[in-house]
Amino acid sequence: MKKTIEEHAERFSKAAGSYDDDQDSAEYLACADLVVDHAAPDADEVVLDLGTGTGAIAIALAPSAGRVIGRDISAGMLEEARSKAAEAGLDNVEFGEGRFRDPDYDGQVAVVTSNFAMHHLSDDEKREAIGVIADLNPRRFVLGDVMFFGEPDPEEPFYDPAVDDPATVGTLADALTDEGFALVAVERIHDQVGVLVAERFGEGSERVSVVDGGPRSVDDAPDAGSGHTPGDRA
Ligand SMILES: C[S@@+](CC[C@H](N)C(=O)[O-])C[C@H]1O[C@@H](n2cnc3c(N)ncnc32)[C@H](O)[C@@H]1O
Repeated sequence: MKKTIEEHAERFSKAAGSYDDDQDSAEYLACADLVVDHAAPDADEVVLDLGTGTGAIAIALAPSAGRVIGRDISAGMLEEARSKAAEAGLDNVEFGEGRFRDPDYDGQVAVVTSNFAMHHLSDDEKREAIGVIADLNPRRFVLGDVMFFGEPDPEEPFYDPAVDDPATVGTLADALTDEGFALVAVERIHDQVGVLVAERFGEGSERVSVVDGGPRSVDDAPDAGSGHTPGDRA
């Protein structure tokens, strides 16, 4: 992570008032639409939206889901999200503080979504976050984000190297499959923007991590269990 959690939170809280108006790029809008379309929760299902920001995804999904939980690190973004949900008369969506690697939610969840947020984490942190998401045992995880389908064109940066740390699609695909997800759709919106749709292909015990050149069950790993230690994690 190129900035601390507190720095990211402060940056987004400052921009929260104008955030929605600024999100007018065709790529962002296409990405958000695809995340919503692929999430497709059933009417009684719980959705967890990580890095929810002002609630673009959470609020769009609330009318078709049983319950939606939005988590973010920025108090300002969460305040905007709450006021938008109240304005829309939604009573099945709740927003609160939570991080990718410590979402402060351990209830049942069917679908996890995240749009344009995970690229703030380093690749190792993304792996850890995907492990935390897998531990929640959703049937589907829909990740829309800045991600590299090839070499990023320096003339057309879709991210700010000072604050963002996007992964390659290959890195994300590896992390997802190592945690027991199968990729069921890959949507390329731009060389640097895409949506990955991942579904569980088995029980948690079938999750593998590739260690020293060979796959092995996570249950064999020295830190088996949740595999995640509490602390100041994003
Ligand atoms: C570009 S906004 C995207 C918001 C929303 N998902 C959307 O589609 O408009 C990124 C959001 O990720 C949040 N964020 C950054 N790092 C985070 C972390 N480690 N855990 C949770 N949220 C984080 C920021 O506070 C910000 O609200």
